Amino acid sequence: MRRALELAASVAGTTNPNPHVGAVVLDADGVVVGEGATEPAGGAHAEIVALRAAGERAHGGTLVVTLEPCRHHGRTGPCTTAIAGAGIRRVVMATGDPSPEAGGGAGLLRDQGVDVAVGVLADAVRRELQPWLTAVGRGRPYVTWKYAASADGRIAAADGTSRWITGPEARVDVHRERAMVDAVVVGIGTVLADDPQVTVRDWPAQRQPLRVVVDTHARTPVDARVIDATASTLLAVGDVAEPAAVSALEATGATVVQLPTADQRVDLRALLTALYEREVRSVLLEGGARLAAGFVRLGLVDRVVGYLAPVLLGAGPSALADIGVATLSAAPRLRLAEVVRVGADVRITTQVEPEPA
Ligand SMILES: NC(=O)c1ccc[n+]([C@@H]2O[C@H](COP(=O)([O-])OP(=O)(O)OC[C@H]3O[C@@H](n4cnc5c(N)ncnc54)[C@H](OP(=O)(O)O)[C@@H]3O)[C@@H](O)[C@H]2O)c1
Repeated sequence: MRRALELAASVAGTTNPNPHVGAVVLDADGVVVGEGATEPAGGAHAEIVALRAAGERAHGGTLVVTLEPCRHHGRTGPCTTAIAGAGIRRVVMATGDPSPEAGGGAGLLRDQGVDVAVGVLADAVRRELQPWLTAVGRGRPYVTWKYAASADGRIAAADGTSRWITGPEARVDVHRERAMVDAVVVGIGTVLADDPQVTVRDWPAQRQPLRVVVDTHARTPVDARVIDATASTLLAVGDVAEPAAVSALEATGATVVQLPTADQRVDLRALLTALYEREVRSVLLEGGARLAAGFVRLGLVDRVVGYLAPVLLGAGPSALADIGVATLSAAPRLRLAEVVRVGADVRITTQVEPEPA
């Protein structure tokens, strides 16, 4: 299972909208005869790759796989059929698949006479697959909010300048985070202030994440870098946006989606639903402070990655705008997951614990 997990990790960020899974096949004598990891969407699932590598030697053998094999016809056929057809006698899996259409493979395999064990290295595999498992369980993308701030928690100086608070290593690290997600989300305030391109440049990426701008009134300039030709862009505008402004943005080639508004602003729950329907399972929210506050207020942030630079600003916007916390006891508490030095800066990763069911 450790090897299967390694195989899974090697294809993280390349399998959208499928989970990144690893599999190992052992022959009847316990010798490894096949390995596999999920191919990009439309390609084979990890189990199939490993079974193909094993060929006849899979007969009477064991399949070790990080996630419960699927039992449905998606873009590919059900893995459960292929596993039973290959003569596998025993399947060892780490964790179940919570998706209604694909889950239930373990039961189906047992019905076909295959011996099934569940729960091996389950915690480690769940950590690796957490964004996907959370997304599928909730029917909305897993949201990581990222910010880069001074040591006193400010994301821009008083004059609005924010490039570059953190050093080159932290910026490369942000591109690594972008390469792992399906979509990067920014607010119109950030687009107007910084004109960012929001692409993966400093990290090897097999695909560019979808760029998303949250822009109630369709104010994105038609020559904004975020709608250039280097990647796809979705402009999430409100149902209050002027039709002429919407048409002008559509003419740029960007996808414009009109969403309901709440308090005169794009309804962020509706935005996440629209993204999920477009097969987005993970989102990197890159601010700014007001959009991040909108997500936090609604409990839509799952993980927070903060880069803190050894610089003081004293004035300028803080990382997060008002989230309605008036007193300390009302503040949302996060779980500290990791603290790492990145170049001259520090990366602090915290997680929002899910509400108890
Ligand atoms: N250091 C960093 O990590 C970092 C990262 C990003 C940005 N920044 C800095 O942050 C500043 C921009 O931040 P900002 O707060 O002004 O802008 P922002 O958060 O990028 O965008 C805020 C705008 O998004 C729109 N919006 C639409 N729906 C919303 C909703 N439901 N909730 C909240 N906002 C919604 C609103 O404008 P409409 O009502 O017109 O739609 C709102 O004014 C810039 O100075 C930039 O340099 C720093």
